[in-house]
Amino acid sequence: MNKDFCWWKHGVIYHVYPQSFYDTNDDGIGDLQGIIQKLDYLANLGVDALWLSPIYPSPLVDAGYDITDYKNINSIYGDMNDFMQLLKAAHKKGIRIIMDLVLNHTSDQHPWFKESRSSIDNPKRDWYIWQAPKNKKAPNNWRTNFGKKAWQYDAATGEYYYHSFFYEQPDLNWRNPEVKEAMFEIAEFWLKLGIDGFRLDVINLLYKDKKLRDNSISNLFSNKKKVFNRNRGSVYKVLREFRVLLDKYADKVSVGEIYAVPPGDTKLASSFLGSGNDMLHLAFDFSLIFTRWKATFYYKTIRRIYSKMPKEGWPCFFLSNHDVGRSTKRFGLTFFKYQKAKLHALLLLTLKGTPFIYYGDEIGMENASITKDQIRDLYGKLFYPLFKGRDGFRTPMQWNSNTNAGFSNAKLWLPVHPNYYSINVEAATNNENSVYSVYKQLLQLRKTHKALQSGNIKFLHEGKNNVLAYQRFLPSEKLLIFLNFSFLQKQLSINTEGLEQIFSTHPQFNSIAGGKIVLKPYQGVVFAESLIVRPHT
Ligand code: GLC
Ligand code: CA
Repeated sequence: MNKDFCWWKHGVIYHVYPQSFYDTNDDGIGDLQGIIQKLDYLANLGVDALWLSPIYPSPLVDAGYDITDYKNINSIYGDMNDFMQLLKAAHKKGIRIIMDLVLNHTSDQHPWFKESRSSIDNPKRDWYIWQAPKNKKAPNNWRTNFGKKAWQYDAATGEYYYHSFFYEQPDLNWRNPEVKEAMFEIAEFWLKLGIDGFRLDVINLLYKDKKLRDNSISNLFSNKKKVFNRNRGSVYKVLREFRVLLDKYADKVSVGEIYAVPPGDTKLASSFLGSGNDMLHLAFDFSLIFTRWKATFYYKTIRRIYSKMPKEGWPCFFLSNHDVGRSTKRFGLTFFKYQKAKLHALLLLTLKGTPFIYYGDEIGMENASITKDQIRDLYGKLFYPLFKGRDGFRTPMQWNSNTNAGFSNAKLWLPVHPNYYSINVEAATNNENSVYSVYKQLLQLRKTHKALQSGNIKFLHEGKNNVLAYQRFLPSEKLLIFLNFSFLQKQLSINTEGLEQIFSTHPQFNSIAGGKIVLKPYQGVVFAESLIVRPHT
């Protein structure tokens, strides 16, 4: 492989939601053998790595983000042999595997917590955050991400424990060195098996204020100002140590989820990159996912992301995920949704930064509506109808137009989106005008044009005329990218001499006409600029 290729910077990462990828044993739930069987599909698409949402043993109160055994595989997905088989088979195809690691909390069914809650003087008591009642009430006013009280009273010992999420997910006490030691040991266990990195769940929540001071405003959306239950200085310190551990192994990556309230705090997210070389490799910043469909808004968000990068830092981008939903939801008028999905793909895969593709986005999958009795996500159950939960964007991958979209022969854990008749992998791979075709072409283009992987970026303007325009360049290569966010055709007066159209979301159409660039509604184009210096005449 090319020596300059740094896989986690220049490659493309695909987020697999294991429950919903492919079911091989007819229990209605995706499994590891299912991922193995679909590796050819993924290799053919051209991705470089898979991030697997948690596959560890878990009572699945929070879809596996509540772990009972960090060194094992949940039997619904297979076992350790299946995992090793997946790792080997993926590596053989040049695809790396990133594990989701939940360091902030465990399941309340984890043996550590069972011990911890058993008595006040149990050696594991201090592994979690226990507090005696204060005036017969919870120790402070901290709330969970959904605004509920974050302290759970445990009658057995008459104390409260802290949980950032559901009460079935008690937070670990990272101020206890044994906790850190145990978790670092778990990370090494997986690194030694040969995995390629970790996605670190809600990493900025790891430490809480030592004095457990009240938050000034405990309300969900105005929680921003003084928050004592997150973003403590110790998080930076432990990330530095985690980096040292990762660096003992070659070519590993850590990508941290930075959970901010309200979401999308770019400065906060990039602060966990440290200098760019000493903390996280990548940090998920949610601001693009919440940006409204308009070139000027996209420009502002993206510029801010670049401007907050530490010198040695590297950005990453994603349009959808298992918590916030699929990007098609944000397109407003759905009439042009597939054109918009293609334009989004072009943006994601040509910006400077590591792209993450959420499974199914490459075929234009959409959020499904889930009826009350189909809800699996506990948030949906607790907050219905105000919030229907996250199931609508965790539905089974749509492989073909057969029963259950070819995902499984059994009753499904979640229904498939009814549009699977037309929106599915089989149809998409046979149609050169599909969203899939755009993803695939762009993944290829990234491999042949290094400027798209590692080149610098320069915006041509601030998104005027609802067109986003930028250059990606290396000394050896210069590419120009135009994205028309508007439903109107646009004409741009730009010197077109030496420009060659190398990609378009509207391939039938030559965008260079009469010395101008013409963009159809929602069209995106990539031009290569010839660097041959013409002699002056
Ligand atoms: C992260 C996960 C989310 C989970 C939460 C608690 O935000 O992405 O799915 O509910 O952490 O672990
Ligand atoms: Ca299965």
